[in-house]
Amino acid sequence: MTALRLAESDLFEDLVLIDVVSGLAAGLALDISHSAALNGFSTRIAGGDDLALLDRADYVVVTAGKPRQPGMSRTDLTAVNAAIVGSICDAIRVRASDSTVVVVTNPLEEMTHIAAARTGFPDARVIGMAGVLDSARFCSLVGLTGRATPQEVRALALGSHGHEMVIPLSQAFVGDRPLESLLDASTLRAIVERTRDSGGEVVKLLQSGSAYFSPAESAAMMVRAMVWDDRTMIAACVRSYGAYGTRDTRVGLPVRLGQRGVSEIVELPLRPDERQALQEAAGRIAARIDELGKLATA
Ligand code: 2OP
Repeated sequence: MTALRLAESDLFEDLVLIDVVSGLAAGLALDISHSAALNGFSTRIAGGDDLALLDRADYVVVTAGKPRQPGMSRTDLTAVNAAIVGSICDAIRVRASDSTVVVVTNPLEEMTHIAAARTGFPDARVIGMAGVLDSARFCSLVGLTGRATPQEVRALALGSHGHEMVIPLSQAFVGDRPLESLLDASTLRAIVERTRDSGGEVVKLLQSGSAYFSPAESAAMMVRAMVWDDRTMIAACVRSYGAYGTRDTRVGLPVRLGQRGVSEIVELPLRPDERQALQEAAGRIAARIDELGKLATA
């Protein structure tokens, strides 16, 4: 889906899909390429299992890994996906040494940390995709109230892609109106909670696999924002360097993306409780990343 969305944007000369199942990547690439005349793009698309396909890529979207099964948390995937993402990032380091990496694999913050460690790339060039997706889910759920369309809502989902998701309502607007003036506190609380559980809600319904369409569009949107260098503020998992008083870890923060990844971490005027929630999220993520270190050396 990410490849399809990026092909449709017609921004790239070449786009490649890589999968351990060679025929799957090649077949999907061929299928997408067959839609070029219909969708009006001239991007060349190839696919296979050969990591040489990565050579000199400008942007790499890492989606590889096992998805959740019903009843699993994202953290249940840590060990298996750490090995998969780690080995892919070794190849990225060598073959696409100048690229910017967007990590999609769960658990998102841990995998973003692994990608940064194994590529050795500057932190600005290793970005986790979650905030765009979680923010979009929030906007879609606000849309269900009938008080605004999803496109009219502006909001940012920060913190973790999981239990410690923080959606600062002080930064949520419909046009210029604070969202809190349109919806009552209990409705907003329910929307925040459902946003947090939206990934699991999809997993439960699908019974096998996890969400495709909105995560794919979120990753594609981030890559397009970098290519366009448009500096739009989005939420993404980045190294915090202590922003908002957080521990120095990987956490969802408001950022601007430029052609070479994160160009700026934006400091918004969060309320004290929102700031504190973000700090707590960062603290829990940092603890999980510490555990990951133990796992790697076990
Ligand atoms: C989700 O939330 C896949 O983590 C992703 O749907």
